[in-house]
Amino acid sequence: YFLYGNLTHTEQYVSDLFRLIHAYEAEAKDTPDGVAQISKEIDLAFIEDDLPKVLQSMQVGAERTRQIVLGLKNFARMDDALPQAVNLTACIDSTLLILNNRIKHGVHIIRDYDDVPLVEGYGGLLYQVFMNLISNALDTLDEKKASLSQAKAEAWEPTITISIQCHDLDQVTVTVADNGCGIAEEKLSRIFEEFYTSKPVGVGTGLGLSITREIIEKKHNGTIRCISTVGQGTTFIIALSVRHVMIDQVQRERLAGARSSSPVNLSLGTSG
Ligand SMILES: Nc1ncnc2c1ncn2[C@@H]1O[C@H](COP(=O)(O)OP(=O)(O)OP(=O)(O)O)[C@@H](O)[C@H]1O
Ligand SMILES: [Mg+2]
Repeated sequence: YFLYGNLTHTEQYVSDLFRLIHAYEAEAKDTPDGVAQISKEIDLAFIEDDLPKVLQSMQVGAERTRQIVLGLKNFARMDDALPQAVNLTACIDSTLLILNNRIKHGVHIIRDYDDVPLVEGYGGLLYQVFMNLISNALDTLDEKKASLSQAKAEAWEPTITISIQCHDLDQVTVTVADNGCGIAEEKLSRIFEEFYTSKPVGVGTGLGLSITREIIEKKHNGTIRCISTVGQGTTFIIALSVRHVMIDQVQRERLAGARSSSPVNLSLGTSG
């Protein structure tokens, strides 16, 4: 906020200073040589034109930073010791915001979100899941683009489609689909293995998907699977239970009150 708030003042000060300069120009009979010299050197007209634009883009940058920090606070702050009601839509949108500088010009992101219930889970961990899946999708789009001839690359539309759906009341599914390189069948069975990577040393560690599976299956009792066709693209499908509807209100209140003292056992392993 410090940066953000000060920029507004800066804009005002700058416009005041230029008003002062113009007033001098109008009043002074003839510009002293020294002043005219400096004005030419620094190209005053250009500065006057450019400075507001520079400030504008700083403002945009500051706003983006603010949004990212807000998003991170939501998901990183969560003490992941206890499950909470997670808004998957907000979680995924935060991830996209943070990946914004990786989502290059030309990558289409299609967000197909149903109005879904909150899911019982660990926000910080789910956030890592989406980070891994969307990062992988961006990687494969880069790889595919690099493999195409220039003409083909221009005609191709790199796309990531993210859908959030709720087919039955107990379950929310999230799919992350890309139209990248796809995964050959013999590799498909290995992608969730620890340290399995097809990326160069230093680029991939091969941990992303193994951590992702751990988080979904072990921590959320959910499922994750992958469908892929070489040359066409890859789709990951995650299903999570809306477990919190099964926790009655009394227990929720105890949970809220007990956060700093004794934890309440939510028996994570059971689902209906
Ligand atoms: N969307 C995708 N399209 C094509 N291949 C994929 C996709 N997602 C994963 N893979 C394949 O699965 C492998 C393992 O993915 P994983 O995320 O576990 O590791 P990584 O991306 O290589 O490294 P990192 O630890 O940085 O995530 C990748 O190297 C890649 O070969
Ligand atoms: Mg990865």
